[in-house]
Amino acid sequence: AMISLRRLLDHAAEHRYGVPAFNVNNLEQIQAIMQAAAKTDSPVILQASAGARKYAGEPFLRKMVEAAAEMYPALPIVMHQDHGASPAQCMQSIRSGFTSVMMDGSLLEDAKTPSSYDYNVAVTRRVVEMAHAVNVSVEGELGCLGSLESGTAGEEDGVGAEGVLTHEQMLTDPEQAADFVAQTGVDALAIAIGTSHGAYKFSRKPTGDILAIDRIKQIHARIPNTHLVMHGSSSVPQEWLAVIREHGGDIKETYGVPVEEIQEGIRHGVRKINIDTDIRLAMTGAMRRAMAKKPDEFDPRKFLSAAMVAARDLCADRFEAFGCAGMA
Ligand code: G3H
Ligand code: 13P
Ligand code: NA
Ligand code: ZN
Repeated sequence: AMISLRRLLDHAAEHRYGVPAFNVNNLEQIQAIMQAAAKTDSPVILQASAGARKYAGEPFLRKMVEAAAEMYPALPIVMHQDHGASPAQCMQSIRSGFTSVMMDGSLLEDAKTPSSYDYNVAVTRRVVEMAHAVNVSVEGELGCLGSLESGTAGEEDGVGAEGVLTHEQMLTDPEQAADFVAQTGVDALAIAIGTSHGAYKFSRKPTGDILAIDRIKQIHARIPNTHLVMHGSSSVPQEWLAVIREHGGDIKETYGVPVEEIQEGIRHGVRKINIDTDIRLAMTGAMRRAMAKKPDEFDPRKFLSAAMVAARDLCADRFEAFGCAGMA
C-alpha cells in the first residue's frame, strides 16, 4: 500500500534503520526494486526526478507505481518526488498522487544557482502548508551538495556567481538546521556533507576531510527528532566499473560513498539514503556484458532481464545493509 514518507521514517527511527530511496524512470527499475524488497521484506521508497518525469511522462510513472502497489500489496511504498524546484512543481506532484515531495530550496528554480536562506525557508514552508493539508510529507534541503575536494558543487548542482565555495559554506550548519526545521516543519531534512550526484564523487576512497560523517553526528545531536537524508549516496561499486570497462565502456577512476559510512550515518539519524547512480552502473554493466556474450541476440528483453537481475541484487544488498530487511 502507498504510505507517506513521514510514517515510514518514523518507523525507521523507532527501529533504527535507514531506507534506500531509489530513483526510478522505467518498468525495469521499478520491477527490480520491488523484487528486491519482496525478497528481503523491506519497505520501499520509489522516487522520480524531473528528468524521470520528462523521460517516462507523469502518467506512466504514476501508473507504474500503482502497478507495483497492486503486485506487492504487502509492501509499504512511498512515492516521492525528488528535487522539486518550486512550490508549483510540488503541487503538481501532490495532485498526481505522490505521497511525499522534496522542495529543494537550496537552489533557485534554475536548479543551478545556490539560493538565500530566507528564500529556502519561505518556499519550503509554503510547500509544507500545502502538503500537510493532504497528508503528503515534505523533504527540505539545507546546504550545498558538492565536492569538498575541489570546493565546487557537483556537475549537476553548479555553482553560483561567487564561484568556489569554502568548506564551511558547503556543509550544513547544525544551528541553522535547527532553525530551518523549526521554521518550516519539514518531515525530513537533506543535509550537505561532501557528497555530490553522479558517478564522480571522490578521486580517492573518501576520508573524513572530504566526506564529513562527523557533521551528521553534530546535526543529529542538535535536532535528534529530525529524520536526516543523505543525497548523492551511491557507493559506485568498483566491480561494476570493472565490468563496464571490460566490455567497451569508458569510465574514469572514481569512488563513491562506502556502505560502512552510510551505516555510521544511520546510527546517527540518517533515515533516507538516495541512490540512483549505482542502479545505472549495475544495469549498464549487465547490459554491456550480456550484449558482448551474445552478439547474435536481438531480443532486448534478454539484455533488460540481465539489467534487472543486476539492479535487483544491488537493491537487495542495500536493503540488507541499511537494516530494512524484515521491516515491511
Ligand atoms: O538528483 C539526481 C538524480 O540522480 C536524478 O537524476 O535528473 O538525471 O533523473 P536525473
Ligand atoms: P547518486 O547519484 O549518488 O545515486 O545520488 C542520487 C540522488 O541523490 C538523487 O536525489
Ligand atoms: Na529527494
Ligand atoms: Zn539528490
